[in-house]
Amino acid sequence: MSHSPLVIAIDGPAASGKGTLARQLGEHLNLPHFDTGLTYRAVAYALLQANLPLDDEELAVKTAANLDLSKLDRNILSAHEIGTAASKIAVMSRVRQILVEAQRKFAMTPPGAIMDGRDIGTVVCPDATIKFYVTASPEIRAKRRYDEIIQNGKSADYEEIFADILKRDERDMGRKDSPLRPAEDAHLLDTSKMSIENAFQKAIDLIEQAVAD
Ligand code: CDP
Repeated sequence: MSHSPLVIAIDGPAASGKGTLARQLGEHLNLPHFDTGLTYRAVAYALLQANLPLDDEELAVKTAANLDLSKLDRNILSAHEIGTAASKIAVMSRVRQILVEAQRKFAMTPPGAIMDGRDIGTVVCPDATIKFYVTASPEIRAKRRYDEIIQNGKSADYEEIFADILKRDERDMGRKDSPLRPAEDAHLLDTSKMSIENAFQKAIDLIEQAVAD
């Protein structure tokens, strides 16, 4: 008997808690986890490193095509500024095409994957086994990002981060290609009102139900 891959789609805005949830689910279910934001971050980082502009689609396409997406270094790519830069190149359709193809291939490889991003349930894996949309208020998300940066021993300004989060939401939700929005069949998890343990437990219950069906 052949089983189709188990694909868990997790979308949501910056610092919503989707990455933490995805990692915990991956460990619990023993499924590989693909943080698709890292692919957009990697393209932005390569352009920044080469002192190239972030608004030239030809250059961004070439850079994306030449990247080895199997080697994504979270330690280098996780900086807050790289996230902002990533959202600028994420508006480019031809860049998205290249990255989405690699993401789909990963998701469809047995046994499947936990995929986290902005457009997993809507575009990358519309037939996912189950979809979640993780969100939280912009104030709470900015506070989380701020705490994360301080914990890493760097300095940060809360008001600046809050403004960045709002700008990033606007760019991600307002773009023409694959805007951030919940898939119609996504389960909403609002982590402003629930601890990460509760979100995890709720997700596990829903996954067990979906797999049983
Ligand atoms: O970690 P954080 O939520 O701040 O960001 P991320 O998930 O690493 O994504 C960085 C940026 O990449 C986002 O703001 C999006 O513009 C873009 N992105 C996307 O367009 N589609 C995805 N599937 C994942 C990320």
